[in-house]
Amino acid sequence: IGMRIRKAVFPVGGMGTRFLPATKALPKEMLPIVDKPLIQYAGEEAAAAGMEEFIFVTGRGKTAIEDHFDHSYELEDLLSSRDKTDELAALRAAIPDAGQVAYTRQQEPLGLGHAVWCARNLVGNEPFAVLLADDLIQSKTPCLQQMADAAAETGGNMVAVMDVPREHTGRYGILDVGQDDGHLAEVRGLVEKPDPAQAPSTLSVIGRYILMPEVFDYLGRKEKGAGGEIQLTDAMAKMIGEQPFHGLRFEGTRFDCGDKLGFLQATIAFGLDRDDLRDGLSTYLSEITAAG
Ligand code: G1P
Repeated sequence: IGMRIRKAVFPVGGMGTRFLPATKALPKEMLPIVDKPLIQYAGEEAAAAGMEEFIFVTGRGKTAIEDHFDHSYELEDLLSSRDKTDELAALRAAIPDAGQVAYTRQQEPLGLGHAVWCARNLVGNEPFAVLLADDLIQSKTPCLQQMADAAAETGGNMVAVMDVPREHTGRYGILDVGQDDGHLAEVRGLVEKPDPAQAPSTLSVIGRYILMPEVFDYLGRKEKGAGGEIQLTDAMAKMIGEQPFHGLRFEGTRFDCGDKLGFLQATIAFGLDRDDLRDGLSTYLSEITAAG
């Protein structure tokens, strides 16, 4: 089918209430894992998967995100005057090319579906990706790349999925699974945050999507779903049967960094993955666990 996906949408308007007080004056997407903010991990994953345009759906109090993807002349000047060339190169490498980034504001927190709908004019009539920066995925091949590869075969909508404990279905979009080869699961139904007793499976949507532009038509109806919010899940569910729709069980480990425990686990996992921190961190971890 060979469809090409060039645009990535990052809904970053959320209030981050699960992480107060840290997120009172700091966008939750700017919380760092080791030394990099969550939004930069998401941006790098999108770039690694070949995305060329980065669309941020922001909100009030989120200007730190725009500043993060721009030059800081004072800082760059300071680093270059002190011959900190590696640090300077790393900073500059994280800045997208001029015109590659667009920001639009979601003026009211009406839900994830509404946030994605706010990007409709910037996306236009082509397939696109959505990445939720809270969901951080450690993997050999970036998760979005795995999805783009799979979607090039299947066409249509695709979501990243993983099994969760049944008692957690109320936190996720949950699949009703059709044909399933253990890698790709055909989506026969999709329901947002069902009670464990009602959940059609335990296969859950993780924050990576490849979407056909027709999703904007359904989002534009602004129908409210779970929690009184305009849900992306509901718009995707309406597309079932109109075009292919699959869940991809991605290779990798996902961390829910909007959750305190998930955030701490990500910090440790990404710390242990770093040459400069591995030894010190693992020594410390074995000391405190032995003492426990
Ligand atoms: C959103 C989606 C949900 C998905 C989840 C993944 O929920 O609505 O379908 O499973 O992201 O993290 P949220 O976490 O914003 O409540």
